[in-house]
Amino acid sequence: MDIDQTSQAEGKYWENVISTLQNDGLDFRTREDFVAKDPKYFWEDGDLMKMIMPYPKAFLKSQIKPGMKTLDLGSGSGGNSYLMAKLGADALGVDVQEENIRYLNQELKKEPELKIRFEVNDLNVATFPENQFDLVLSWNSFHHIKNTDHLIQEIQKSLKPDGLFILLEHQHTHSMFRKALGAFFWLLLPTRERFMEKFQLIRGRAHGKSEETLSPAEDSADHDYLDSLKKAFVLEDERAYLGFTGPFIARIRAGKGLKSFLVKMVDGLDRAFIKMRLIKGEQLFLVLRNRK
Ligand SMILES: C[S@@+](CC[C@H](N)C(=O)[O-])C[C@H]1O[C@@H](n2cnc3c(N)ncnc32)[C@H](O)[C@@H]1O
Repeated sequence: MDIDQTSQAEGKYWENVISTLQNDGLDFRTREDFVAKDPKYFWEDGDLMKMIMPYPKAFLKSQIKPGMKTLDLGSGSGGNSYLMAKLGADALGVDVQEENIRYLNQELKKEPELKIRFEVNDLNVATFPENQFDLVLSWNSFHHIKNTDHLIQEIQKSLKPDGLFILLEHQHTHSMFRKALGAFFWLLLPTRERFMEKFQLIRGRAHGKSEETLSPAEDSADHDYLDSLKKAFVLEDERAYLGFTGPFIARIRAGKGLKSFLVKMVDGLDRAFIKMRLIKGEQLFLVLRNRK
């Protein structure tokens, strides 16, 4: 299939991320148990994710019944597709990473008992057969898609009546209050960086310098797709995580007990601020039911 230049660059970018993490000890099929050697961000630390947001994965697992057909949009390293297949689903993972998909399909030959396949496709233009899937998943992939109206229509069309669309999504939040809280706790807590280094990094961020490189199609959606999603589907659940802690929580360094205490403390505060609607969460979890 023809994949445009931006989507190709996007695929290459994520292939590089996966191989860097793989060199750091990632087992791509058990993403849940993955922890990078020296994680900088929450998404590089599987243990931390389990501590602060266990619900999305637990909910996903609870929805999988043997024989159901699932579609994983932007399946990346394949962890969620494997998870669903291991629970008995007939799983399809779709991504724009051509080399990685070849690799995953090769690896699958070692586990012929699993009903799983990966396909290369660009979600900006991909079409799916009608009434096929019981569950569609997008795990931190949707915000890389430009043509979101098209994708929403395809999800609705391909879901069976009453089928479920599960969305975990990364939201950039630009609130000054959130940034100030993040900077305060980052400076205060023991982290992988020393005080002066943190100070320089925070100053750099305030002047628009980010240490995190963004993927070529990051936040490329052509409009606010969350509104469109809520109109197109029936919203059954909405949760948010990581209000101000996202930039530093994975960087906390202390003995095991103290680290766990500090993580729980800032995460508890974070949840309270989100609940009081003082800040928005960086990670948004939505459960959407098809209207058909
Ligand atoms: C942040 S990663 C998430 C990967 C995976 N869902 C996970 O949680 O590990 C975003 C994924 O979206 C994929 N992606 C980005 N743009 C895409 C497009 N236009 N079509 C298909 N996949 C795309 C990337 O290749 C990447 O695997």
